[in-house]
Amino acid sequence: MKASSLSFQAAVVFVVIGMVWGIVMAISEDHSAMPAHAHLNLLGWVSLFLFGIFYRLHPSLEGAKSAFVQIWVWIVGTAVLTVGVGLVHSGHAIGDPIAAIGSLIVLVDMLLFGWLVFRRASADPVIQPSILPAE
Ligand code: HEM
Ligand code: HEM
Repeated sequence: MKASSLSFQAAVVFVVIGMVWGIVMAISEDHSAMPAHAHLNLLGWVSLFLFGIFYRLHPSLEGAKSAFVQIWVWIVGTAVLTVGVGLVHSGHAIGDPIAAIGSLIVLVDMLLFGWLVFRRASADPVIQPSILPAE
């Protein structure tokens, strides 16, 4: 599997969960877990999909172990942060250290992604997506 495909697939899984959660929040009229829903969608759907686009544009990273590590750590960090924030906002103090660990995981992982962007991608020819239909 390519790194971009893993990113896109994980993003879709997260957003389906996030959307169901959003609908449940709306129906129940209990928005207390809103920050957990928001970060599940923003870290899980938006960020992972953006990572996927980046990897698709840099083919030398598509099979790189560092890219797969970056994506898997992000998946784990997003899940940990979401559970932690969800617990905090549903009145469970135990969620605090869990949210803290999740936030540190995604922060460190963003530094890894930043390293890939600065070090690896600068040496890689960027594939320009064509805006013109194929002849
Ligand atoms: C079926 C789809 C979705 C439903 C039904 C839904 C529902 C909700 C609800 C009920 C809230 C609480 C609003 C409030 O209390 O002010 C909320 C907040 C939020 N949602 Fe969703 N959501 C959906 C999808 C998404 C997606 C795909 C994203 C991100 C791409 C997203 C990002 C957010 C954010 C950032 C907030 C916090 C907004 C704020 O700060 O006021 N949601 N959503
Ligand atoms: C280490 C990662 C992150 C941490 C620890 C973090 C933490 C927080 C905190 C503490 C809040 C206030 C929540 C509240 O009102 O109770 C917040 C709100 C928000 N953050 Fe983040 N954030 C992170 C990453 C991100 C990212 C990557 C995005 C966007 C892509 C984002 C978008 C938002 C938005 C839209 C809000 C307002 C909606 C809400 O209250 O949940 N955050 N964040």
